[in-house]
Amino acid sequence: MALCCSNDYNILRRSPTLYTQDSAQETAPTQIFLNSKLFNWVKPCTNKKKSLHFSPLTHRKSSRFQCSSYYRSSGYTITLRKRLLFFAMDDPFERSISSRPSKKALTTSNHLQHVESLATLPSGAGRISKLNAVILGESLASEEDDLVFPSGDFSRQAHVPSPQKYLDMYKMSIEDPAGFWSDIASQFYWKQRWGQPVYSENLDIRKGRIKIEWFKGGMTNICYNCLDRNIESGNGEKTALFWEGNEPGDDGNLTYNQLLQRVCQLANYLKDIGVKKGDAVVIYLPMLMELPIAMLACARIGAVHSVVFAGFSAESLAQRIMDCKPKVVITCNAVRRGSKIIYLKDIVDAALADSAQNGFAVDVCLTYENCSALEKVKTKWQEGRDTWWQDVVTKYPTTCDVEWVDAEDPLFLLYTSGSTGKPKGVLHTTGGYMVYTATTFKYAFDYKPSDIYWCTADCGWITGHSYVTYGPLLNAATVVVFEGAPNYPDSGRCWDIVDKYKVSIFYTAPTLVRSLMREGDEYVTRYSRKSLRILGSVGEPINPSAWRWFYNLVGDSRCPISDTWWQTETGGFMITPLPGAWPQKPGSATFPFFGVQPVIVDEKGVEIEGECSGYLCVKSSWPGAFRTLYGDHERYETTYFSAFPGYYFSGDGCSRDKDGYHWLTGRVDDVINVSGHRIGTAEVESALVSHPQCAEAAVVGVEHEVKGQGIYAFVTLVEGVPYSEDLRKSLVLTVRNQIGAFAAPDKIHWAPGLPKTRSGKIMRRILRKIASRQLDELGDTSTLADPSVVDQLIALADS
Ligand code: WTA
Repeated sequence: MALCCSNDYNILRRSPTLYTQDSAQETAPTQIFLNSKLFNWVKPCTNKKKSLHFSPLTHRKSSRFQCSSYYRSSGYTITLRKRLLFFAMDDPFERSISSRPSKKALTTSNHLQHVESLATLPSGAGRISKLNAVILGESLASEEDDLVFPSGDFSRQAHVPSPQKYLDMYKMSIEDPAGFWSDIASQFYWKQRWGQPVYSENLDIRKGRIKIEWFKGGMTNICYNCLDRNIESGNGEKTALFWEGNEPGDDGNLTYNQLLQRVCQLANYLKDIGVKKGDAVVIYLPMLMELPIAMLACARIGAVHSVVFAGFSAESLAQRIMDCKPKVVITCNAVRRGSKIIYLKDIVDAALADSAQNGFAVDVCLTYENCSALEKVKTKWQEGRDTWWQDVVTKYPTTCDVEWVDAEDPLFLLYTSGSTGKPKGVLHTTGGYMVYTATTFKYAFDYKPSDIYWCTADCGWITGHSYVTYGPLLNAATVVVFEGAPNYPDSGRCWDIVDKYKVSIFYTAPTLVRSLMREGDEYVTRYSRKSLRILGSVGEPINPSAWRWFYNLVGDSRCPISDTWWQTETGGFMITPLPGAWPQKPGSATFPFFGVQPVIVDEKGVEIEGECSGYLCVKSSWPGAFRTLYGDHERYETTYFSAFPGYYFSGDGCSRDKDGYHWLTGRVDDVINVSGHRIGTAEVESALVSHPQCAEAAVVGVEHEVKGQGIYAFVTLVEGVPYSEDLRKSLVLTVRNQIGAFAAPDKIHWAPGLPKTRSGKIMRRILRKIASRQLDELGDTSTLADPSVVDQLIALADS
């Protein structure tokens, strides 16, 4: 057993220089070298979770570093609290980076080439292959050389156990998409099989209208496939949903049989009030079981649900209601989130009043009484329009006929931010989305029937659609639905829930990982987490230190992390690890899912081969792709298919390393990613300028330690209005009211003027540099109409 690492990550990452004096010894070392300085182990590590200390001998003042360590059969993983991570391995020198298998000549698409080389790897599973010291806050792409292997046991049981198997399946999916996806689709129930061709597409704007269709002519129903089909195959008494309320101890659960009954009652009610196939239903609910129930009930009768995240303000809700004109809005009276109560019905009332004033009145507001938050009697009520869920829905029969729909009939609308102030209604259809979410869920999480699955996302976002509701239920999984906040009553809540339900697959966002990481390891180590098998990450690039903390501490260095890159538009995972198939690199989403052909293009739209950085696009369609933007097909075409003709453009930057791994680098458009939530800078700007004292605003994203990106707003006030703290607060409040609390700017920077070109275009590049205080990197400011603006902005930076 030897121990090694490098203490200066940037310089020495390729050459581990910390090692034991006697690497032949089986026992724990007593002395180590750290960059040729000798260190003494004060207490050698002997068993699991025992504290480990070492002190530098060469320092006069013996500054001790406290370590927590995890002894594993394959090696040590030592977390040094002074911001360094050490990985132990069998022999630090044998596996230097140069000993990697040589690569074969590039044959097919670039990423495949690396997977081919991996196929020749000896089973290196079971240990972390390369060691490194990692300094928090490091840049993302600096970690390319780390490989973290799944264990041999894990790989052996995995659906895709080797690079070769992935390669075979991937090749099949690209060479014969129709055959590949038809085989999978056949495992679902179709009232009538799809016709020919299996799919048809045009992703090239130069050839005419953009069109994507999969399984057209096939008649199916996604609710039937989630519930009835699984019950028929013997899962009726299996738990479908575990619900954990905001307060520990407040919980519930539904079997597949019970879930179907609840869904049918609501479906019958909706039909009874006149909701028909193709009608929109807006759902504005927190994470109660009623939220997936409402989605499934809509799907059962062919209605199109549009879930609006319950953190959106009344104005945002009204905007969405006016756009899709629902027959009914489904909500609840209030919800507790942490120690706060949020009066959702009040927000809905305001939104409905707003919408009615603007010419669209909603006839029915079905309201669930969430009695743990607010009693019925205290809820404001509009007779004739408002109906209590518990009063009516429970009276309906527990069976309900299925509305068979075409694979290409719409399933749902989900609004997402773009680079203009108006949100886009992303439209997904039924058949392709069903097949795609189910398949991605199964493979990316290596799902097995005994798994208990928990995704912390809210159903108000796409992750909650595809990977709380549809993907898992289509696989007959048991899903944990959590209503509360991850730091309530304390920061150990997630691991408490993991232990309580024996969660084996835990899927969350980097922002949550980072925020829990700050609270200290004790909140994690207090709980067993033994049930965990796989971890997942989504929403933004996960920085390697967060990855390692998640991997080493939360997953006890035994759970692969599926870092899934995808979007509201893609419906399901696009680039994702298959956890048993190949080694991971912390911070990389790895390789494309079956059927997905990612390409990186330069600014001219030319595909770049090999190691490169550029714009991430996708060549040809996949079943889960969105089909249009509701009511605005032209915007669909211009936003996604015009910048780089022939491709779907994701709006993300991406680099590909020499091994073919993909590294997402963030949005390249005017969209900010705050805690994994997409927010358009234009939306925040239009909210700010609606304030009577704001003349102009420009919003940029800045790096934020926990949220990934923070919102930084430059505000020019109306002539003569003085700067004040009250005004700053009032501007922030305006954004909260117009969009929602999650979009509140982190910083308002007073701007006497904004840096504009002579043609009036705001130079955001300069604003980004000022916002991140990179003042020596402002670049050429001579093209500005008034270059002195920049000095004024710098002078006001910390005012
Ligand atoms: C970002 C969320 C890096 C990306 C599913 C994308 C990611 C946007 C990852 C979509 C990831 C999502 N690594 N970046 N694993 N996952 N993103 O529509 O910028 O809310 O374009 O969908 O999130 O956000 P959306």
